[in-house]
Amino acid sequence: MKTRILVTGGTGYIGSHTVVELQAQGFEVIIIDNLSNSDKNVLDGIAAISGEKPAFEQVDLRDEKATAEVFQKYPNIEAVIHFAAYKAVGESVEKPLDYYENNIGSLVNLLKCMRTYEVPNMVFSSSCTVYGQPESLPVTENAPVQPAASPYGNTKQIGEEILQDAINAYPELNAISLRYFNPVGAHDSALIGELPKGVPLNLVPFITQTAIGIREKLNVYGSDYNTVDGTCIRDYIHVVDLAKAHIIAAERMLQKKGKAAYEFFNLGTGTGSSVLQVIQAFEKVSGESLNYQLTDRRPGDVEQIWADTTFANEELGWKSERDLDNMMATAWKWEQALKERVAAI
Ligand code: NAD
Ligand code: WQD
Repeated sequence: MKTRILVTGGTGYIGSHTVVELQAQGFEVIIIDNLSNSDKNVLDGIAAISGEKPAFEQVDLRDEKATAEVFQKYPNIEAVIHFAAYKAVGESVEKPLDYYENNIGSLVNLLKCMRTYEVPNMVFSSSCTVYGQPESLPVTENAPVQPAASPYGNTKQIGEEILQDAINAYPELNAISLRYFNPVGAHDSALIGELPKGVPLNLVPFITQTAIGIREKLNVYGSDYNTVDGTCIRDYIHVVDLAKAHIIAAERMLQKKGKAAYEFFNLGTGTGSSVLQVIQAFEKVSGESLNYQLTDRRPGDVEQIWADTTFANEELGWKSERDLDNMMATAWKWEQALKERVAAI
């Protein structure tokens, strides 16, 4: 019998890539998603890659009863990988209560269901945003968590605290928080990828949409930072590398290899890239010349951050494999595939 894993937010960007990796490793996947930020067609993309359509339940995790019914319908779930959340930083400043209700409420409901249905393990999507601007770089897991810069960031910090408190109180529970740096790129097949709704807020989808002609020009936010070329530095990580870490984290708990019931790891490449370096990599692999201009800083941006990945490499046994060129090449292939799909409609 296959090991059954529940993936919340499984039709979303990182979730869909993780579902494909789980299927490749022989797990049975159940997806819960309310489709608030994804499309049901993603299931076709997943099936086209793996040959297998995962079980899908269109359920809102804020609805505890409906969530419990999924646990009842699929007994013996062994781990939950919890991606489902709202993730737009700026929107969270305008609608903080929606963010707390969704990101915290969903997590609490899930943990209650996990207790009731005796599901012991959770992998939680956290973020490097918990570090704010770290005092020293690269940033390790021992760096202090900084006061959150946004309600969104706060939901990740509170989420980690909820997990820690729940595990202290209920020894049967285990959890691993994965602190993602900047996930980019798409599956090599270009059958799944990132689907931003409206104008993208993140750098890489904005680059690919500009190159394909959906946007006129990329604004590079700030060129007077104290960095190699004046633009901000981030640790971009390929979404497929990131997806694979979730399988390793789930297996670590299933095989009881963890050193503690609650653990957290950085997921990055360990290398920082400036905005201009990202643009250069994109231009090189795509052969396109990008229309961009240097503009004012974006309020709230961290100047520079990249991960120390030693702990993830040595303790979790995970290492990123793909470089920035591959991230840009797959992001570009995905954008082109999307255009072809729209043209075919
Ligand atoms: P995404 O929006 O593509 O996927 C999230 C999915 O969750 C969507 O399909 C959405 O419909 C679903 N969802 C949201 N609320 C729900 C609810 N109440 N019930 C059921 N489904 C719900 O986002 P993503 O980029 O794949 O991010 C996944 C996780 O990783 C999120 O928790 C996000 O905060 C975290 N994260 C993302 C990034 C990033 O840059 N993409 C960085 C760090 C952390
Ligand atoms: C990257 C760099 C921008 C757009 C956000 C969240 C964070 C995390 C990841 C979830 C920055 C610059 C961007 C543009 C630009 N999400 N940029 N022009 O800011 O690192 O993090 O997503 O946890 O919480 O805050 O990612 O992709 O928005 O920006 O110059 O049009 O690109 O200033 O330096 P960021 P990003």
